[in-house]
Amino acid sequence: MADGVPENKLFVLKTSCSINMNLRILLASLLACLVLNTATAAPAITRLPYLQSASPTQIVIRWRTDEASLSLVRYGLTTTALNKSATSSGKLTEHIVLLEKLLPDTKYFYSIVIATNQVLLGGDSKHFFVTPPLLGNAKSTRVWILGDAGTYNTQQLMVRDAFLAYTAPRLPDLILLLGDNAYPNGTDANYQAGIFNIYPDTLRNVPLWPSLGNHDARHANSGTQSGVYFDAFTLPTLGQCGGVMSGTEAYYSFDYANMHFICLDSDDSDRSPHGLMAEWLRRDLATTKQTWVVSYFHHPPYTKGTHDSDNPKDSEGRMVEMRENILPILEAGGADLVLTGHSHVYERTSLVDSHYGNSASFSATRNVVQGGDGRVDPYLKRGRQAHSGTVYVVSGSAGRAGTGKFPHPANVVSIAEMGSFIIDTQAQRLMGTFLNGKGQVRDSFTIQKVSLPTPAEPSK
Ligand SMILES: [Fe+2]
Repeated sequence: MADGVPENKLFVLKTSCSINMNLRILLASLLACLVLNTATAAPAITRLPYLQSASPTQIVIRWRTDEASLSLVRYGLTTTALNKSATSSGKLTEHIVLLEKLLPDTKYFYSIVIATNQVLLGGDSKHFFVTPPLLGNAKSTRVWILGDAGTYNTQQLMVRDAFLAYTAPRLPDLILLLGDNAYPNGTDANYQAGIFNIYPDTLRNVPLWPSLGNHDARHANSGTQSGVYFDAFTLPTLGQCGGVMSGTEAYYSFDYANMHFICLDSDDSDRSPHGLMAEWLRRDLATTKQTWVVSYFHHPPYTKGTHDSDNPKDSEGRMVEMRENILPILEAGGADLVLTGHSHVYERTSLVDSHYGNSASFSATRNVVQGGDGRVDPYLKRGRQAHSGTVYVVSGSAGRAGTGKFPHPANVVSIAEMGSFIIDTQAQRLMGTFLNGKGQVRDSFTIQKVSLPTPAEPSK
């Protein structure tokens, strides 16, 4: 006993004092750590940088962090001279920064900065982009096209790696997505797993141009331009990358070199012949003067793969509506190439025109402008005349391969294999290639623009 306090009570008192003291020390330490961490901790990057809405003079760089932070990009012509900067206001986790007044056809390096002199990412030889050349300037161009890619399974990785081995050391100049980009439901987590975690090394260097598929539309709405797809991408609604303004990210167009690309929404926008999308498409086609016109969307007009374009109930008639209502507009506007997915196979036509019915109505006499497989003898086209022939490609097996009841009579090639599609252009020459997941070229064709002699005037 001490000072009248029983021994057992003293033990409790001492213990209590000791605990209180320890708690105070612990709390003080935690507070110090918190203050220190607040001063120095960097947000973690949870979605690596990707490039959007590229034009000869502008580009958008996007990334995501786990905590709200500044959105600041430093950029320049060498890694040691990132002497320009661009920012967006506020502290955010979803970072969208527009770089403007860029030089055309120029390589820029960039870094992502979260505070003065605190670089989160980049500032090295791996983080760069190349701006597109000026409108109309022909440039050797490679486009990588991925249909129905985002399964995050072994097949998707095989297709990716086969292409990267095929294209090395060069990079593609742009990437197109043909819809159903992120399985199974187009959620944010699906997109992270199926797109952003699969292609980060390419997406930090090459602009990505997506289209909307039925799986993406499960968590997106074209009418309100809301949902995961619309949140994830920054697409040109005002014609700022070429073409006529569409007023919506659901469908849009842009230019690259001497090519004009038209993205359509075959899933969730009005597909009627005089709907907003169709009328915009007419204006856009009438306006462009580019050598090549390539359109891409999700639902194929001619397929006998994992979907059947003859069946009006398949995909709630979207394939039939695109064929009947939209193909006549594309062909009247001189479209050269139409790319679609949805069917998890590879199929493609020769140079065809004006086939808008079911497969039984396809006529080699009426609908084939130039037959053959286009390998030894290229498909010849004179400029961009109306109804001068279009090649239709289904390439929907970048994430999985299915089977089919081949062939659709319009198609000259039908392959039930996983793979991706590649476009290479050189001025007046366009080459298409289907590369499978083993790195084998399973199809190739060429379209050549030629100056055929004009028909002689009838003698008077
Ligand atoms: Fe689909």
